[in-house]
Amino acid sequence: MSEDNEKSVVRGLRDVAAAETKISYVDPAGFLYYLGYNIDDLVGSTMYTEIAYLLIHKKLPNKQELTEFSNQLYHEMYLPKEIVQSIQATPESAPPMAVLRTEVSHLGEFDPDEGDFSQAANLRRATRLIARVPMIVATLHRTRQNLPIPKPKKEYAFSKNFLYMFKGVVPDEKEASVIHRFMILHADHGFNASTFAARVTASTNSDMYSAVTSAIGTLKGPLHGGASEKVMDMLDEINLEEEVEEYIQGLLDEKKKIMGFGHRVYKAQDPRTKHLRGIVEDYCHRERSQGLYNRCMKIEQLVYQRKQIYPNVDFYAAVAMDALGVPKDFYPLFFASARVSGWVAHVIEQYEDAVLLRPKGEYIGDFNRPFVPIEKR
Ligand SMILES: CC(C)(COP(=O)(O)OP(=O)(O)OC[C@H]1O[C@@H](n2cnc3c(N)ncnc32)[C@H](O)[C@@H]1OP(=O)(O)O)[C@@H](O)C(=O)NCCC(=O)NCCS
Repeated sequence: MSEDNEKSVVRGLRDVAAAETKISYVDPAGFLYYLGYNIDDLVGSTMYTEIAYLLIHKKLPNKQELTEFSNQLYHEMYLPKEIVQSIQATPESAPPMAVLRTEVSHLGEFDPDEGDFSQAANLRRATRLIARVPMIVATLHRTRQNLPIPKPKKEYAFSKNFLYMFKGVVPDEKEASVIHRFMILHADHGFNASTFAARVTASTNSDMYSAVTSAIGTLKGPLHGGASEKVMDMLDEINLEEEVEEYIQGLLDEKKKIMGFGHRVYKAQDPRTKHLRGIVEDYCHRERSQGLYNRCMKIEQLVYQRKQIYPNVDFYAAVAMDALGVPKDFYPLFFASARVSGWVAHVIEQYEDAVLLRPKGEYIGDFNRPFVPIEKR
């Protein structure tokens, strides 16, 4: 027995602090801080570009720094032609999140800083990934529509360019504000499962592309970033507001999880929910958004009455993305397009911490079983 066998499993690593971090704090009382700033003070007052800078440079940029960072992002927005061709060659049946996972890994083969693990190279790589993950998403979407991808416009902020390139239509002021708010709200969130996966990979001194690939694979699951797609499946299945009660009570009676509800850390409302609900309210003049919003409000009320749990980020995010015209199977890719800034910030912090993240497993199997040669089994 090489590992001590004391019973010490913390199921699901609940409440276990795996490392120290200065990047973000998820306060169970219902607050979220990025580098010490309450997100309520950032959403609506900053652009996503400023938040991506904040996460990797650990300070808000001044005007000059913001211009320089915006230029760096703009120059990194062009994907290597091999990546574009590879996206174009993917089968229609491939889930978009699987393509994103593969192409981020593929990007690692074209890194101009290959082999350089200096802090400067890591910041360049982080900036490159922040720019290129959304570009893979936009390229894939345009490819699936058999339409060309527009070139980014230098005068647009990064997230406006992303939405423009994804949809091929210049976003109006409202849409530009929504995409900034959406991306800020999804940029980081403590030691969530995908960030932890990225940090475990980085802790072996593996490269940033490998770490982000691990994170995307982890985000893909329906208990994490895949939840918003399931939320829309549920909203689509409930055709009328009057059907909500029976549908939700049925799921709860069968002890099934309601997608977009519950959270490992928050004991109060998820602080991101009110901002996302606000985004949806802005679109309620549209019949579809109003209908979805009404169903959401009713679900929120019923789930609280029965389980005393609140919606999480994915619940209203689904309806916000629907309002922006994002297809359901691209929801987790929008999440990844913003969360990549948090992932790379955590990867850099993990490199600085320089410790291998390697827990032990509680072995509950047998010992010294009599070996039987294959001929006698
Ligand atoms: C996010 C999530 C994985 C957190 O899981 P967790 O911390 O392990 O919490 P648990 O699964 O142990 O749930 C604790 C209790 O709340 C209930 N609960 C949690 N989320 C629930 C949900 N979405 N619907 C119904 N009940 C839920 C559990 O059934 C359990 O109740 P019980 O004590 O009566 O058995 C979980 O809430 C979930 O699966 N949510 C749905 C998926 C989702 O929206 N994911 C996105 C997360 S941002």
